[in-house]
Formats: sequence, structure tokens, C-alpha cells
Amino acid sequence: MHEQGSAPRGLDPIDELARRAADEVGLISFAGGLPDPKLFPRRQLSDAFLEAIHAPGAAALQYGWPEGSLELRTWIAQRLRDRGARVEPSEVIVTSGAQQAIALALATAPRRDTVAVDEESYPAALELFRTAGATLMPASAPAALYYSLPSISNPRGLRMSDGERAALLSRARSARGYVIEDDAYEGTAFSGKSSRPLLADARERVFHVGTFSKTLCPGLRVGWLVPPSRLVQRALRRKQTHDLQANSLAQELLVAYLKTDDFERLQARSRARYARKQRLVAAAARKHLPELSIESPVGGFSLWLESKRHASGEALLEAAIAEGTSFDPGESFRRAPSPRLALRLCYSAVPEADIEPGIERLSRAFRRLG
Ligand SMILES: Cc1ncc(COP(=O)(O)O)c(C=O)c1O
Repeated sequence: MHEQGSAPRGLDPIDELARRAADEVGLISFAGGLPDPKLFPRRQLSDAFLEAIHAPGAAALQYGWPEGSLELRTWIAQRLRDRGARVEPSEVIVTSGAQQAIALALATAPRRDTVAVDEESYPAALELFRTAGATLMPASAPAALYYSLPSISNPRGLRMSDGERAALLSRARSARGYVIEDDAYEGTAFSGKSSRPLLADARERVFHVGTFSKTLCPGLRVGWLVPPSRLVQRALRRKQTHDLQANSLAQELLVAYLKTDDFERLQARSRARYARKQRLVAAAARKHLPELSIESPVGGFSLWLESKRHASGEALLEAAIAEGTSFDPGESFRRAPSPRLALRLCYSAVPEADIEPGIERLSRAFRRLG
């Protein structure tokens, strides 16, 4: 994502700017949704890698079944059962990240002409739905599909209340629609409390999506999809035609890693670190950007800021890069265009000492907008 060098041709203006920012030496970046690289458990992962690569059956280096490793699926199903959902390992499909799981859910759903989404949502899912020809509807509208992030939303970092969950499921039932439950940020709630997945209350109406990208590392590209039980075979056939199976090496490495108790300890460490960074960035934004309203997140990697003022996030990003910082313009997250300025500040991968200086730079850029 942040490779240096020549970018692919034909990027849209915001992507062009994001690439430019990523190549800028000394720039403090609040863009991206990247985990803190200091949290990657490199030693434990390299031990797990060696264990996987030397294991007798050589599964890490061999083809596997399209649904993925049984041990990994058993671990995933158990985690979901602990959260109240009745899921069997045979209903879990290991995917290449949550992104592929969302794409697979879309391809498997009986109807996909309309997708209801929040007013701000995860850009790569919005892009996926748009390029598939779906019309994006408000979350309250009747639709064939409802894409939702109930555990921790992106970009706002909020958790849905029980009432909101019940209302969403009831809307989906009356529209005879399906829900794509994107659980990517589950595990990042600052409180450490996990939530009951929608899947637990509507097994046959929910495509449940999860990933190790935010809680461990995105480079492994391992996620999962739990489709409604009667659609598992259909999803599996589509998965197989896309890429046969998820990466064997990454799956076996994960199986070896998850046998240790490091993952639980890592979660606790990560939550504390992200909560601290969130407080720092919110305090700096309140001090240096008092004109912007801030919503306090309960988890995730980012802060969502909005202004009543009409201005382009893209123009602010240009000015920010000139001042030595970057962020994600609100435009990319919106279901429908709005003239009001909004931005997402991702604090997760920014070193603590850079947070306030980065926000000061952003504040100078904001003032340059006039
Ligand atoms: C809400 C949400 N869903 C899915 C993804 C994709 O995750 P993965 O890296 O597992 O494909 C992201 C990544 O930023 C995300 O923010």
C-alpha cells in the first residue's frame, strides 16, 4: 500500500495525493488504517513461521482445500461461539483478508442491486459495491443487502447499540435482504469487551466477515467469511474460482502462532496503546483545530472530524502535504457527496511523539485554506 516508487497509472486525484504523501520523507501520516508496526509480534511470528515450514506434512507449502485450514476454521468458529453465535468450522471460509470476504459475500448474495450503507463507511467496500453496479441506499432504506459495521465502525469508531442492531435485522427481514456484517475492527474496542455478532441473532440472513489484519498484521492477508448456512457451498465455489484457496503459508503460520497465548497478551497491549494514542490525537485536535467537531470513538484506529464549513478535503490534503502531514479526506467515506468538510485521522501507526506536531501541521494547512 505504501510502497515507494512509481504508482500505477490512472489513479483518481485523492489516490494520487495519498501516494505522493506516502513518498514524502519526514511526513507525519494520519492516513491509512494501518496497525502500529511496533505491535507486530515479529519474534513470535518468526518462530511460528519456522514451525510451520518444518512441519512434517509440509501443509504450509502445499495446496490446501478452498475453505482453508481446519485448525484455523476451528479457532475462528470457537471465537464466534464464545460471542454467542452457533457456528461450525465447516461453515467458515478462510479468505484473503476481510476485503475478499466482503467481495465473496457480494458475489454469493442472491440479490445485489441495492446495498444499504451508513452515511460514512469503509471506502473499499463502497468502491466494491459501486463497481459491481449496485445502487448505494441510506441505511434505513429497503435494500437487497445491508453492509454494516456493528462492532466498531469505520471511520467513526462507534459500536451499535442493541436497539440499532435489532432495528437493522428487522429492516433486513422485512426487505427479505441479507446483511454483510463487517467485523474487521472487533477486538480493538478500548474497553476490551467483545460484542455479540449479528450472526448470533440471524444466522440465515448474515454474511459475517472477520480478519486478523487489525489485531495482528495485515501483511498475512488472512480473513474469513461465515455465509448463511445454506449459501456456504455457493460461496465456496466462488472462492475456488477466484484463487483456489487462501495462502497456505500464512494460514499454517497463524495456526502455529495461535497455539501460543501471545495473541491474547497482544490484544491487551494493543488496546492500551491505541486508546492512549486516541486520547492524544483528540486532545491535540481540540487544541489546534477547535473549529472541527470530533466524535469520541470507543475503538478502532481513527477519529472522524467534521466542519460545518463547505470545503474540499482534497484541497485540504494538498495543503496538508505541503505542511508535512496527511490524512484521509472525508469524501472517500461518503455514501453520497456533501459539500461539508470532513476528515479521518488515523492515529494507530503514528508514533506518540509525532501526534501533536502532526496536528499542528494540519492546523496550519486548515488555516491556509482561508
Ligand atoms: C472496515 C474494514 N473492513 C475490511 C477491511 C479490509 O481488511 P483486510 O486487510 O482484512 O482485507 C478494512 C481495512 O482497512 C476495514 O477498515
